[in-house]
Amino acid sequence: MLIAGNWKMYKGPAETAEFCLALRDEDLTGVDVVVCPPYVSLAVAVQLLAGTEIAVAAQNVHWEEEGAYTGEISAAMLRELGVYGAIVGHSERRQHFGETDEMVATRARAALAAGLFVIACVGETEEERERGETEEVLRRQISVLEADDNLVVAYEPVWAIGTGKTATPEIAQQAHAFVRSLIDVPVLYGGSVKPDNATQLLAQPDVDGALVGGASLELDSFTAICRAGARIPS
Ligand code: PGA
Repeated sequence: MLIAGNWKMYKGPAETAEFCLALRDEDLTGVDVVVCPPYVSLAVAVQLLAGTEIAVAAQNVHWEEEGAYTGEISAAMLRELGVYGAIVGHSERRQHFGETDEMVATRARAALAAGLFVIACVGETEEERERGETEEVLRRQISVLEADDNLVVAYEPVWAIGTGKTATPEIAQQAHAFVRSLIDVPVLYGGSVKPDNATQLLAQPDVDGALVGGASLELDSFTAICRAGARIPS
């Protein structure tokens, strides 16, 4: 069971330090935990979580090792910092920054080649679900990815992200089973995961963990979700 906290554009280095110092005192036995702070907070997170089982991942990564790509960060740079992995293809990147499936695939490939662990996000929008296109969208988004020991997919229905509208455990299970039929890697659920719905979602047979946004920003809610994950037999 893997629980990853996607902090998005929250927590600069000072808040990150405070959170990590508190997190490292928590008993998180029985669950793999990852935090994904903004770039500028990665170094302090790596430093403060060194020697713990908690891993640190970035929220994005570029496909080139270096070059004229203003504002981007390479996998080699993340590795140099001691970062363990990276999210790619988050729906906010697809929506606001024009990320295409090909860009997401290129990012994933480069990150994996550089030795990073990768969380690749997929998921349909509300309109796509209403039009009955969920499977088509997932098939298209997954088709560019290749299974790898260091790859996990996060199924995040866009209509459930930051909206408080969680997919029901049945909807999540159905989508996860479909993703699994396309690619043989663990599948995390993401979209308004909270302490009070985590157990039901994580208990679904094809749900291997969660990618948590809003609820990962508070220590109490994040650790409650981690503990819910630890209680599910794997
Ligand atoms: P949320 O975000 O938990 O705030 O819905 C999930 C995500 O964007 O990964």
